[in-house]
Amino acid sequence: MEYIEEADYDSLIIPYQDAMANLMTRLDSLNNDYRRKYKNYPIHHMQERIKKKESIEEKLRRKGCRVSAEEARENLTDIAGIRIICYFEEDIYHVLERIKRQTDILILQEKDYIRQEKENGYRSLHIIVGIPVYHIDGMDYYPVEIQMRTMARDLWASMEHRICYKNEEKIGKDSPKKETFKEFAKELYQMEQKLSEMK
Ligand code: GTP
Ligand code: MG
Repeated sequence: MEYIEEADYDSLIIPYQDAMANLMTRLDSLNNDYRRKYKNYPIHHMQERIKKKESIEEKLRRKGCRVSAEEARENLTDIAGIRIICYFEEDIYHVLERIKRQTDILILQEKDYIRQEKENGYRSLHIIVGIPVYHIDGMDYYPVEIQMRTMARDLWASMEHRICYKNEEKIGKDSPKKETFKEFAKELYQMEQKLSEMK
């Protein structure tokens, strides 16, 4: 089996770490500015992660690519990832709009699983952005995957990820667990409607 050398992995992730740190700072500024203007934070908290060496290798194999740092750079857009957890769905669209206003950020992909919830009940908004990273001899854009969802939907997604997601072999295609998650999603929908009315 092919692997990525530790040293290659270490240098692969450096610019992704820079891109991610840069974006985190911008998001922090947005959140603070929001608070000054509207008295409330739209973002409850954020998480960041760099994809582990083993996960990169596994994903490249799954995609039928060769396993190397270069292939990872060319084929993966989720080496750097930020999760933005908001209070209300409305906040997600506000944050999205503010990100889009930053003219040096590229929007490479947008998947709205909020307006169009996934069949299993997953509800989040995903974008892949290109963040400029300046080196001594020029600039390159590096992709960062952003997942945005509410606190309620983050709980759902974390539990579903643990119990069902990409786990079909183990739990079975028609597992009642999947139905239960769909029911949870409906209940959360109602809960969030009511919370939103109390704003
Ligand atoms: P991956 O091959 O997993 O990267 O999926 P994708 O390239 O089709 O992209 P997508 O935007 O659909 O998903 C990106 C990431 O969002 C996944 O790796 C998961 O972390 C998360 N995600 C997407 N769908 C689900 C879901 O149904 N349940 C949970 N828990 N997480 C999901
Ligand atoms: Mg992906």
